Amino acid sequence: MEEKVYEVPADWAKRAYVDDTKYRAMYEASVRDPEAFWGEHGKRIHWFHPYHRVKNTSFAQGKVSIRWFEDGTTNVAYNCIDRHLPARAKQTAIIWEGDDPAESRHVTYQELHDEVCRFANVLRNRGVGKGDTVTIYMPMIPETAFAMLACARLGAIHSVVFGGFSPDSLASRIADCRSKVVITADEGLRGGRKVPLKANTDAALERLGNTVEHVVVVRRTGGAVNMEPGRDVWYHEAAKMVTSECPAVEMNAEDPLFILYTSGSTGQPKGVLHTTGGYLVYAAMTHQYVFDYHDGDIYWCTADVGWVTGHSYIVYGPLANGATTLMFEGIPTYPSISRFWDVVDKHKVNVFYTAPTAIRSLMQAGEEPVTRTSRASLRLLGTVGEPINPEAWEWYHRVVGEGRCPIVDTWWQTETGGILITPLPGATRLKPGSATRPFFGVKPEIVDAEGKVLEGPAEGNLVIADSWPGQMRTVYGDHKRFMDTYFSTYPDKYFTGDGCRRDADGYYWITGRVDDVINVSGHRMGTAEVESALVAHPKVSEAAVVGYPHDIKGQGIYAYVTLMAGEQPSEDLRKELVAWVRKEIGPIASPDLIQFAPGLPKTRSGKIMRRILRKIAEDEFGNLGDTSTLADPAVVDDLIHNRQNKR
Ligand code: WT7
Repeated sequence: MEEKVYEVPADWAKRAYVDDTKYRAMYEASVRDPEAFWGEHGKRIHWFHPYHRVKNTSFAQGKVSIRWFEDGTTNVAYNCIDRHLPARAKQTAIIWEGDDPAESRHVTYQELHDEVCRFANVLRNRGVGKGDTVTIYMPMIPETAFAMLACARLGAIHSVVFGGFSPDSLASRIADCRSKVVITADEGLRGGRKVPLKANTDAALERLGNTVEHVVVVRRTGGAVNMEPGRDVWYHEAAKMVTSECPAVEMNAEDPLFILYTSGSTGQPKGVLHTTGGYLVYAAMTHQYVFDYHDGDIYWCTADVGWVTGHSYIVYGPLANGATTLMFEGIPTYPSISRFWDVVDKHKVNVFYTAPTAIRSLMQAGEEPVTRTSRASLRLLGTVGEPINPEAWEWYHRVVGEGRCPIVDTWWQTETGGILITPLPGATRLKPGSATRPFFGVKPEIVDAEGKVLEGPAEGNLVIADSWPGQMRTVYGDHKRFMDTYFSTYPDKYFTGDGCRRDADGYYWITGRVDDVINVSGHRMGTAEVESALVAHPKVSEAAVVGYPHDIKGQGIYAYVTLMAGEQPSEDLRKELVAWVRKEIGPIASPDLIQFAPGLPKTRSGKIMRRILRKIAEDEFGNLGDTSTLADPAVVDDLIHNRQNKR
């Protein structure tokens, strides 16, 4: 197929912060002398005490250590709020659009200040201070951002847990970081349906004994909930007792800001730890340049704050830049499939950032639900979370953006804190499906299986050769796991877990995960987690989970399940297992297909050959590769014969 290229529109090259020439010059400077480059750009945030040492990082085997701006002090909430007050007190900081189109709210920077201070005081009165962890299990409402910023103001470390996770998942995340305080809401509201957040929290805390001392409950729907005397408090009642002033605590650049749990190829989700100064500099700078954010723009990222995209590009990046950021409670299809575009028109959104899976699902309904809206305010579109197929890219560009809006396909990860590979709209010619070129200061490399660095056009695994300020610093409480997971596969380099191709123009094309992580509708899932949920079921003896190509979700979850002796496969059991996984982990982990397998393909030493299971799930039977090490080749014939139908 001939490669399509979209030139930078002339007006974009002129009005954007950087055109191609400037991109090349800035990029070159950023990798030639990172100290000088970041020393300069670190000044974009306010420091109580300026830094003198810019970069002190090492990816060396067994000694990984990452510090940026290490002798500077600052506060993230101060930067996202107080610093803007002289000029922006009356400007809208957050536009909130409710699940119900009749509900919306504008929060100015002054109101943001007052609300965050109140929230901080409520937390402070419950003993929360510098270095304490607070778990936030909330719907998409402004109070969630207030809670995050309140933690930042006090120097407490927040851990936001996505509202779609089950009580068990919530409990293990609370336990891992030993939060004594949990913030939740009575219920969430999505697509007209209620999500029992407080009831889930109660169930989670029951599993934990009495480790959590305070639960702060925000009233969202007014639904009836159980309130545990002495432990639970209504936020609106506690907020009446406190003032709207609360000093921002002076934090060291390397003090932790937040933990976010994410799935890896093995075991329990890891607590990705981000710190204060470098994270904020990087989130703010990428937000400004990638989205070409100018004063007065209305910016909307459709992610949930339960994911890193929500942290960096709904809350911290935009607010650090004094932007107006839109926060949407609902879903793209409620009350109608035009909802995204209705919201764009209602709030005159200029920059719109969403996930490929959303585009693919909306694409199915045809063009009319889009074209019946105006979208005249849109200037720039973005995607994140998974590779975007060129068909979806073209549709997004032609139908949603009417051919006039560049698309920034932004590649990054929970671990990277901010965008690493991306077009800049005034600088980069676009190729549908390519995340294009590295952001300033980012040194991507492609390595082969042996770790040899490949030059020029090449395909292999994506590593990053040197640190950038937004990089995660450690796995919370387990620095060895951090080093083992990210810096041991290819010694002295950060391994992303992604496969990647670089073309003759130096453009990067992410091909997807090369480890046992799958990407379902932009949600990251460890196959090992789904497997351990399945084998926890009394009727299951063994399970192996792989991804397979799914038209809407990108990847679907395909589970091979071996039952205990005497158990019979049935449709009912299939449904029971799906419901079981939903209950154990949450709806995002529901298997799409379950194949009952009398046996799994194993090597003679008993190792499951996932490569074969992947090929079968992908319908690539002709290409199973080397099967000579199989203990029992007949197993594979049975698997092929009974494979489940797709999509
Ligand atoms: C994985 C990280 C970064 C915020 C959302 C996901 C995949 C992400 C892209 C993209 C191709 C992408 C990668 C990555 N991914 N963006 N633009 N093109 N793949 O964060 O949950 O930490 O997942 O998402 O596979 O490793 P995450």
